[in-house]
Amino acid sequence: MDSNKRPDTMQRITTPELANAFIDEQISALREQIGDKKVLLALSGGVDSSVVAALLIKAIGQNLVCVHVNHGLLRKGEPEQVVEVFRNQMNANLVYVDAVDRFLDKLAGVAEPEKKRKIIGAEFIRVFEEEARKLDGIEFLAQGTIYPDILESDDGVKAHHNVGGLPEDLQFELVEPVKLLYKDEVRVVGKALGLPDNMVYRQPFPGPGLGVRCLGAITRDRLEAVRESDAILREEFAKNGLEGKVWQYFTAVPDFKGVGITDGKRTFAYPVIIRAVNTKDAMTATVENVPFDLLQHITNRITTEVENVNRVLFDLTPKPSATIEWE
Ligand code: XMP
Repeated sequence: MDSNKRPDTMQRITTPELANAFIDEQISALREQIGDKKVLLALSGGVDSSVVAALLIKAIGQNLVCVHVNHGLLRKGEPEQVVEVFRNQMNANLVYVDAVDRFLDKLAGVAEPEKKRKIIGAEFIRVFEEEARKLDGIEFLAQGTIYPDILESDDGVKAHHNVGGLPEDLQFELVEPVKLLYKDEVRVVGKALGLPDNMVYRQPFPGPGLGVRCLGAITRDRLEAVRESDAILREEFAKNGLEGKVWQYFTAVPDFKGVGITDGKRTFAYPVIIRAVNTKDAMTATVENVPFDLLQHITNRITTEVENVNRVLFDLTPKPSATIEWE
């Protein structure tokens, strides 16, 4: 049987009972596959890798080594949440790598979006590889491949965006416990595994993170402005019933300044762009009709709470003609 083909008889996991049955089945299968060997996992804190981590912690405990690379392009609170949930609550064997300076140094002065993506992807693999080489006795590599990844790849085998590309001498047998699941099923399983809602129902977040929302060449001041304004937007959407309703929402900060006035003084600072879109498949998208008074409240918060910002813009453009991200 092709192990990358979802059996026609496989029931869609929609309830906690079905999720628990899947979890029990996977724990046995994982123990069978792995035995007393060690498994390595790049744990970003996204829903797929988090569910894989939680499953493996249940199956093999300390024989799972999770590596969380903080590349400085994650959203506010994300690296802290990974440490809190996995190390403190689930007692995972977690290696936390602070690679912020390393990534930002590599990205300094690079304005071209695809070049930024390549640098972020390549540096991620390098950091992960260095960590893998420090560990003894790892025989398996776990990945959060899900069924759409298999369907969308030409050969039915996923080159995972994050850890594909490890060198020849560092090849492991793959462990992919959620590879036959659709995203909604991964979320049901994550919930049954006790992961927090804001991890399980998280909106999509691009691999290069805030790096493609700090437009042009990344600078630390604008990156902080993206991170802080994004946190305010998420907080206000959650408070006002838009979390879980709007497919994707975020802020971007361009690399030009405008004139403004604060407390009677002239300022020269960055604008923040708000984007909030709905889509089924990300191929086309429409703009969410965000209530105007909420937009005004968010504008007020961003311009008073975020440093180096004096304006807020709302992106009214559907896809096409725009893309969802600015870069
Ligand atoms: P665009 O901007 O192409 O985005 O309309 C469509 C969806 O893809 C996400 N996106 C990415 N995801 N790596 C990712 O993992 C990337 O480089 C990347 N670029 C865009 C974007 O957030 C949206 O959900």
